[in-house]
Amino acid sequence: MKILVTGSNGQLGNELRLLAQHHIELVFLFTDFEELDITDEVSVEKTFSAFNPDWIINCAAYTAVDKAEQEPEKAMLINAQAPGLLAIIANKHNTRILQVSTDYVFDGKNYKPYGEDHPKNPSGTYAISKAAGEDNVLKNSKAAIIIRTSWLYSAFGANFVKTIRKAGRERGQLKVVADQIGSPTWAHDLAEAILIMVIRNAEAGIYHFSNEGVCSWYDFAKAIIELSDIQCVVNPTDTAGYPLPSPRPYYSVFDKSKYTSITQQSIPYWRDSLKKCIALLNEQS
Ligand SMILES: NC(=O)c1ccc[n+]([C@@H]2O[C@H](COP(=O)([O-])OP(=O)(O)OC[C@H]3O[C@@H](n4cnc5c(N)ncnc54)[C@H](OP(=O)(O)O)[C@@H]3O)[C@@H](O)[C@H]2O)c1
Repeated sequence: MKILVTGSNGQLGNELRLLAQHHIELVFLFTDFEELDITDEVSVEKTFSAFNPDWIINCAAYTAVDKAEQEPEKAMLINAQAPGLLAIIANKHNTRILQVSTDYVFDGKNYKPYGEDHPKNPSGTYAISKAAGEDNVLKNSKAAIIIRTSWLYSAFGANFVKTIRKAGRERGQLKVVADQIGSPTWAHDLAEAILIMVIRNAEAGIYHFSNEGVCSWYDFAKAIIELSDIQCVVNPTDTAGYPLPSPRPYYSVFDKSKYTSITQQSIPYWRDSLKKCIALLNEQS
């Protein structure tokens, strides 16, 4: 099986790269912007013709949520139009596409975990662009899989875990939002879930994946500081006390039963995965 991965210098792409070492039966082509700009139709077509993949896993994205408010055209091009283009070309080459999406497609006003079919209601440029990306992929490829995830972190790239560790060490006191609830996801666990679905040629459609359990950003930050053994006081604040250019959902917990029932896999608890990632980060520093 041949698998083309885009955006592979990011968090998820790097985790897939690591896992690929344990799957010698699979042939991967890892690309990022320099090798394959997903907005460049000619380049995408050329790569498909040369590599002829069975699957494309699209990890490429514009992920700067707040900056997207100043660069809406760029965010829409990368997150909405390009995935649609990838789906059209994938379809033409008989390649299945797996598009990665986000909890931000929901408005966060639910009171119970979001099922895959819950109506989308994105708010803010990033969320709108990712929701449009889902629609464009599904419209152009009936065999597509969309996998939505939330609060992604990894030992690779920039993320909340690294930001909190750095800020905690430098400042010794932090204020973190306690009224937004969700589920952290270690990109390593997501990469494993994606490969399971690809290898098993899972049924087309939308799936939800995050780590198990629920917390606020404040709980997440407390856990990061504790597990990293950093001397820092973490205080709760609310969304109003930490204004950002782009709105965040208040509640973005997924119902993951579709993923667990089709794969028969259990999902690691968020704190257990966080501990593993922090051990890796400690090895690096
Ligand atoms: N991060 C989160 O908290 C989060 C939460 C939910 C869902 N997601 C979704 O999960 C997926 C993976 O996220 P991630 O955190 O791994 O993202 P990431 O670390 O930002 O990686 C994205 C990669 O795509 C590259 N890229 C950007 N534009 C490209 C283009 N035109 N062609 C090819 N590559 C391009 C980026 O390069 P540059 O860095 O040079 O731009 C980067 O290497 C995304 O779809 C994201 O929307 C993320």
